Amino acid sequence: MTADLISQVRDQLDSSPTPRHLVEFVAARLTAAGFTDCTNDDSLENNIKNGFIERAGSIIAWRIGSEIINQFRIIGAHTDSPCLKIKPRPDETRVGWHLLQVEIYGGPLLNSWLDRDLGIAGHAVLRDGTVKLFSESTPIARISQLAIHLDREVNERGLILDKQLHLSAAWATGEKSPDFVRWAASKLQIQPEQILSFEAQLFDSAPAQILGVDQSLLASGRLDNQASCWAAISALIDSPSPKITNVVALFDHEEVGSSSATGAAGPLLEHTLERIAAAGGLSRVEYLRALNKSSCVSADNAHAVHHNYPDRHDSLHAPIINHGPALKINSNQRYATSSSSAAIFIRACEAANVGHQMFVSKNNMPCGTTIGPITATRLGIDTVDVGIPQLSMHSAREVCGIDDLISMHKALTSYFLN
Ligand code: CO
Repeated sequence: MTADLISQVRDQLDSSPTPRHLVEFVAARLTAAGFTDCTNDDSLENNIKNGFIERAGSIIAWRIGSEIINQFRIIGAHTDSPCLKIKPRPDETRVGWHLLQVEIYGGPLLNSWLDRDLGIAGHAVLRDGTVKLFSESTPIARISQLAIHLDREVNERGLILDKQLHLSAAWATGEKSPDFVRWAASKLQIQPEQILSFEAQLFDSAPAQILGVDQSLLASGRLDNQASCWAAISALIDSPSPKITNVVALFDHEEVGSSSATGAAGPLLEHTLERIAAAGGLSRVEYLRALNKSSCVSADNAHAVHHNYPDRHDSLHAPIINHGPALKINSNQRYATSSSSAAIFIRACEAANVGHQMFVSKNNMPCGTTIGPITATRLGIDTVDVGIPQLSMHSAREVCGIDDLISMHKALTSYFLN
């Protein structure tokens, strides 16, 4: 059972180098589980019980409960991860190397992108308006670190990277310069002239990998936050007959602040909930009452306490790897967790028989944030921030605990069903 679930997580991670690839993967899972794609027509209004709507790198899925809609249970997570995106005119040749120019997306640990065998994935918008995804996971690019002989103090002083000069990726040598758009067109088996615009990024070509002599860990790119996306969608699929209407909202652009047409600060969730309520026959007033009674679990990976840096955590609020999901609390509202929303999630963990932990950052350490406070602010819904503990957050390759993945899946399923 656990092995099946973990191979599903690995499958998702390896198939989803970009948010759009993740949305495509999730949509295929939902379709196979009997959910209807309501993206392009009025099928939502025709009272579809199980459905989803895709919008670029975001997707919202729902299952109508057996009771009349008087509240929603919502799980939110994000589809994007910090990375290096290919610039629109990326081709450059320098001292015998053919390079791709990149733009930094979000806040990656830049050193983690050096000396890796990188693949390239993205999508192109064609002249006829269609969007085509492409992905090359055979390693074709590399950003090499300067040799220690040419940077003698790097181990003492720390690595200093100039973000404009030192991150270009090499992807060919020799007389003939490759052309990125031509390459993307060849991947899509179309003519380069058909591509009007594209978005693409580098990714670590190494697949997700179980590790530890006890096989207790999973290493991969994009665990933050595809691990939560997997647990949320699995909980929705694995709760076939809930009493209350369940919703999963997976948003792009969290790593850059969520303010976009498809981000958590946009209207996507609000509009979808209102459409679901209207299709269920609710008046505007009944819909607003339902929002008041609703709750939201914002799932985004948490910082596990690091074996070499235990002092970076408050010892009583330091999530331990494979000890269960962490509730994230910040009284300054960088996390949305309230006493009542915390109780909702703790109740779900207890019903699922999984442990939970508490994370509060040290007073002298600035605290991150999530889509939780944004959702709580936009919709006025009581929200709890929770996460699978992990190390190396925002590295090209992160690591989390296998038991924690399973526990989060169980806790979210219990939230939907109880
Ligand atoms: Co995150």
